Amino acid sequence: MRLISSIEAVRRETLLMALERKRVGFVPTMGSLHDGHRSLIERAVKDNHFVIASIFVNPLQFGDGEDLDSYPRSIKKDKQIAEKAGVDILFVPEVKDMYPSEITTKVVVSKLSQLWEGASREGHFDGVSTVVTKLFGIVGPCTAYFGEKDFQQLQIIRQMVVDLNLPVKVVGAPTVREADSLAMSSRNIYLSSEERLAAPILRVALDEGLNLVRLGERDPLVVMALMKQIVESEPLAVLDYVAAVNAHNLQIPKMLHAEIRLLVAALIGKTRLLDNDGLTLTE
Ligand code: PAF
Repeated sequence: MRLISSIEAVRRETLLMALERKRVGFVPTMGSLHDGHRSLIERAVKDNHFVIASIFVNPLQFGDGEDLDSYPRSIKKDKQIAEKAGVDILFVPEVKDMYPSEITTKVVVSKLSQLWEGASREGHFDGVSTVVTKLFGIVGPCTAYFGEKDFQQLQIIRQMVVDLNLPVKVVGAPTVREADSLAMSSRNIYLSSEERLAAPILRVALDEGLNLVRLGERDPLVVMALMKQIVESEPLAVLDYVAAVNAHNLQIPKMLHAEIRLLVAALIGKTRLLDNDGLTLTE
């Protein structure tokens, strides 16, 4: 595995890959790699001739008062994980190279970006779509892998690739969970031991919501009321939102049908956690 920080050097490598007609897999991350990232990399290794992973804690997607400065950074461990999982190039650009001057162009995926996470974290998805567009511009034609854990982010990136005709195939991979079902996230390390015990309540709310749908409930508001009640039963949780939505436009439909997704976000102590799951209704 080679560690590269220069944008031009990555470009040279991927141009070479394109000339040799090699399939390139790309896994963009903010580092602090865990088994969720590992599974994305392993999938990319399986599907492609050559795999690039990036580590870049993107200032543009953090709002005022968010955890940009304290965001977990563990480059030494990340290098070991990436190399073991089969990454060929670990691209670790610096902020001054990604954003050499004040940024005047932003990529905004309207509608999808304003909902849910976007409503709670103003400008967050504009930061994500801008940096992902820049990374796609650097890496070039590739298959890019994102976790379903950040389902709204995944759908926004899919929409952006279609809207901008980017030469990228987007693959979403299932959420990887701890033994007690908590979705893996770099931010889980912020949780105290007491909060860590409380955190799986998000998954419980999703499971109960999905069960209700499987039993025949089609009113999204009824499903959401149950999920809300479950999260609020946990004294350490402060609910941000629950939603039962259409998996494509992320809007709450009048009646649940076809592909649906349940979303939940809550503060556990000071740590904001999100989770989601879905199913496809055939009748
Ligand atoms: O999901 C993440 O880690 C980030 O939002 C991403 C996609 C790497 C963009 O900074």
